[in-house]
Amino acid sequence: MTDLIPPTPEGLTRAAALLADGALVAFPTETVYGLGGDARSDIAVARIFEAKGRPRFNPLIVHLPDVQAARRYAVFDDRAERVAAAFWPGPLTLVLPLRPDAGLSPLVTAGLPSVALRVPAHPVAQALLRAFGGPLAAPSANPSGRISPTRAEHVVEGLAGRIAAVVDGGACAVGVESTILGLTDGARLLRPGGLPAEALEDCLGEPLLTGAGTDPERPTAPGQLASHYAPAARVALNVTAPAPGTVWIGFGPGCAGAALNLSESGDLVEAAANLFHFLHRADAMSDGAIAFAPIPEHGLGRAINDRLRRAAAPR
Ligand code: TXA
Ligand code: MG
Repeated sequence: MTDLIPPTPEGLTRAAALLADGALVAFPTETVYGLGGDARSDIAVARIFEAKGRPRFNPLIVHLPDVQAARRYAVFDDRAERVAAAFWPGPLTLVLPLRPDAGLSPLVTAGLPSVALRVPAHPVAQALLRAFGGPLAAPSANPSGRISPTRAEHVVEGLAGRIAAVVDGGACAVGVESTILGLTDGARLLRPGGLPAEALEDCLGEPLLTGAGTDPERPTAPGQLASHYAPAARVALNVTAPAPGTVWIGFGPGCAGAALNLSESGDLVEAAANLFHFLHRADAMSDGAIAFAPIPEHGLGRAINDRLRRAAAPR
């Protein structure tokens, strides 16, 4: 069942408790409703991808109540400080270098060395972030491929039964997603959105670079996301009988002899939560070859296989 929670102090306490349990709670922001989960929890983040039916692990935006909180997760240079001071809270997301000690799930960043951070202005989002007291990963609260929700009813229509609750904060004022500004290599407009690019250019005193965006809603060059974490070792897929010397990563109960098992019980949510950690661990353990057992191509298995095909692609 999906609860509709009013944005009262009691309601927000309940919503924060669900989030602390690793459950998913949709909440209003001034742009669109977000599907929130604890950005430090692998399982909570895996559940976000599962609930949305996302066929890929695209990196997610991490929501914080203010710039002080945001500085714990990313490195802010002069440009980042300037636009944050000018436009936060508001419909702006900054992609910045991830702090090594950030403690975020690698599923949030899709293994990238950068992270997308946003401080939403909506009073209910603000109150929920403060009640929860941690970073919330939140893509738009719609099934993958459907339009973004701007009312609690839209979230219920799309995701009822798949998430724990929706905090009802009425209609979203902006109605389109946040503008994403990348600051890891120059100042780059990665996604146009609720904050006009001109306002950013005026603030920074320079034109924004464009292109090389990673928004799934925009056509992207094939292989653009191939820069996501790829292990040093060669990766083979659908392996049921690994060659000697290979670090074999199993899935499900039939993988006796696997060095690691993404999920002994064959649970795709658990497997997704383990995926990036296991890629790192296998890379450290191996002499140059990693093999994965077959992963079923449904539910989160599609996103896991998409990620593994990228890791296994020739480079
Ligand atoms: O308005 C919004 O931004 C809404 C509300 C809920 O805050 N959220 C939202 O999140 O639109 P989402 O997950 O749909 O947007 C994630 C996008 C990715 O597709 C990618 O374009 C970009 O953010 N992104 C995230 N992390 C990135 C990174 N490290 N490098 C480049 N782009 C990144
Ligand atoms: Mg979306």
